[in-house]
Amino acid sequence: MKSILNEKNLKSKKILLRLDLNVPLENGKISDTTRIDKILPTLNFLIQQKTKIIILSHVGRPKGKTVKELSLKPIGEDLRKKLNTSVKLITENIYEIKNKDFFEKFDEEIFMLENIRFYEEEEKNDQKFAKHLASLGDVYVNDAFSCSHRAHASIQQISKYLPSFSGLQLDLEVTALNKIIIEITKPITCIIGGSKISTKIDIIKNLIPKFDNIIIVGGMANNFIEYFGNNIGKSIKEKNCYQIVEEIISLSKKNGCKIIYPDDVLVSKNLNGSSKNKELDQILPDEMILDIGPKTINKIIDIINNSKTILWNGPAGYFENPNFANGSIEIAKKIIENNESKKIFSVVGGGDTVSLLNSLKFTDKFNFVSTAGGAFLEYLEGKKLPGITALN
Ligand code: 3PG
Repeated sequence: MKSILNEKNLKSKKILLRLDLNVPLENGKISDTTRIDKILPTLNFLIQQKTKIIILSHVGRPKGKTVKELSLKPIGEDLRKKLNTSVKLITENIYEIKNKDFFEKFDEEIFMLENIRFYEEEEKNDQKFAKHLASLGDVYVNDAFSCSHRAHASIQQISKYLPSFSGLQLDLEVTALNKIIIEITKPITCIIGGSKISTKIDIIKNLIPKFDNIIIVGGMANNFIEYFGNNIGKSIKEKNCYQIVEEIISLSKKNGCKIIYPDDVLVSKNLNGSSKNKELDQILPDEMILDIGPKTINKIIDIINNSKTILWNGPAGYFENPNFANGSIEIAKKIIENNESKKIFSVVGGGDTVSLLNSLKFTDKFNFVSTAGGAFLEYLEGKKLPGITALN
């Protein structure tokens, strides 16, 4: 993997820069800018090198359709303010744009193509689409470690057609995670939560041989709670997962890895409601599970106290409503306490987890904070990430 940092003669080159600007948006406003702030050094470096920057990114999951609420416009605005330079959002159909259309005028600084996932070809890793994207620039830079586990056109396929390099943030993440993989000490506990269940449930199987405890919270835990014969009401869950859960349980027994799922939960009738503590067999058909309960928190605290390494990805509950943030906050506090007394080594990853920790001003209290969620887990699992392999 060649880093753009070591590249000479970049002056005047058109750089296609893939970033992960998948930040949380609420009514067109960015509620956490961590992913934007982290790539500012890369942009500043490319500006200093007098390159011509064309940003490629996605936000959300528009599934190949133009979704107004998932425009990159507010993100471009934020970048413009932070870099004090013009950031021009290109909303025209990508296929109608040609290389010569960029940087025609002297004062144009940075271009940004509209949400690349508005095109279904992106997630299909479409060759023609990638070739067209590549034709817009001279050099490709991937500074999106957090989506490098996706074999998508602007992550993997594009690198076949241009000299390709890693960006500064990607270098930083890979170096830190490599160090963690080498230096990790047992007992290791992995806490996995969040709502992106489909991408994570399979990963658990591969993590089992490496870890002593896997604590499952958030949306994924609902699949386990249901598997053990409980009614989960209106709670989110991944469909057709009975067999995966069964495999996870049996693999964990074979490998001596404990799987821990909630003993009690906090429920509500809707996302904005107040919370009620319930035992697993008390959940009503019109209720949804939105956080872990106090018994579960105590159990997790005990496990953290008996661990030497903690890896955490994904919040324990729907923290956007403060009534359901307690589980995640208590987990964070315990990890920080043990980290400060040097009893554990702690690594946190994932967009939502980082947003939560940022809002609590906790982010600098862990040994390493990754902006990546799924990519972070897959890298730790030892999988080859398509975006990284493409750079090699
Ligand atoms: C992330 O937020 O983890 C990345 O942007 C990837 O998003 P995805 O899970 O929608 O592919």
